[in-house]
Amino acid sequence: MIKVAVLGYGTVGSGVLEVFQKNQEILNQNVGEEIELKYVLDRKKFPGDPVERYLIHDFETIVNDPEIKIVVEVMGGLNPSFDFVKRCLENQKSVCTSNKELVAQHGTDLLLTAKEHHVNFLFEASCGGGIPIIRPLYQSLTADRIDEVSGILNGTTNYILSKMTSDGYGFEEVLKRAQDKGYAERDPQADVEGYDACRKIAILSSLAFGNYIDYKDIYTEGITDITATDIKYAKAAGAVIKLLAIGRRTDQGAYALVCPVMIDASNSLYSVNSVFNAVSVHGNMIGDAMFYGKGAGKRPTASAVVADVVEAAKNPGTTVMGDGWNAKKLELMPLDDIP
Ligand code: NDP
Ligand code: HSE
Repeated sequence: MIKVAVLGYGTVGSGVLEVFQKNQEILNQNVGEEIELKYVLDRKKFPGDPVERYLIHDFETIVNDPEIKIVVEVMGGLNPSFDFVKRCLENQKSVCTSNKELVAQHGTDLLLTAKEHHVNFLFEASCGGGIPIIRPLYQSLTADRIDEVSGILNGTTNYILSKMTSDGYGFEEVLKRAQDKGYAERDPQADVEGYDACRKIAILSSLAFGNYIDYKDIYTEGITDITATDIKYAKAAGAVIKLLAIGRRTDQGAYALVCPVMIDASNSLYSVNSVFNAVSVHGNMIGDAMFYGKGAGKRPTASAVVADVVEAAKNPGTTVMGDGWNAKKLELMPLDDIP
């Protein structure tokens, strides 16, 4: 029997509990033995909620329990997430996280720690919500030199831009809807200023190009300056505005950027609407491949996190480090030098 603990019972954490409750049999089958939740850590109390039988308020109980082999971190932020995750890895517990801020900031350190302690540090849900994109990059597309990974990587901004385009909603009104649906970050500035997409493209480009990319080096512009008039003009030109995240390497060097772009119907991202994300990958053998699905929200994100739990249970000790993401930093070309 493999026992799992979850840190955080918000949008994603409650989805993780739902996956365990609804798909318990499938999980056991896919792991090859019984796997079950033992604890859910949160600050709050949830009277009458299904989480009550698992709920605890003290992290030390989890990190010191030798029965816990896998910890799911879905609290978000860096503090205390980084400290908690590091301590779990050092205590021989694999960690699966949806926290892109944590992965973009401390991914290299945590991957090295996981490797040193022969456990997993997995983060499929950190990019593209429910879309399987991380594992394909480091486990499937291993026969290719990947030269591009790009697309729509933030569900909240895509939802906002889509609704402003199709229904004429105002920015603030539709942002509030995205928050109510659980798509937005705790501080939605991370979505609308492009920081979230920036972290995601840093993670994906690090995996695709084989060396760590610092998200702080990536030129990032969000959608806060996009007005209803911009959207009208784009529409009149037969186009839509999308927040794109682009990671590319050329013979002259690698670059990455996040910014709003006007695209027409000839671009395959044109019809990617609402909370959906799409990531296109170009490899020198496969050519173009596209990954599409819900980029945020409780169930899709929980699906990706729990898939990592299954992976950690089946293949303990595997790690991305050395199979795709090396600690040596990749210097990006300055924006002015982009061909
Ligand atoms: P929420 O804010 O909904 O949930 C986080 C939960 O963790 C809250 O209940 C919070 O309690 C609790 N928590 C935070 N810090 C602590 C602590 N120190 N001790 C105990 N409990 C704590 O966030 P989400 O579920 O939306 O997101 C979680 C992570 O997943 C983030 O990193 C986010 O970026 C990422 N993510 C989210 C997606 C989504 O669609 N929502 C999709 C993909 C990734 P309190 O409210 O009291 O702070
Ligand atoms: N706030 C993020 C988004 C959650 O809207 O894409 C998924 O990472």
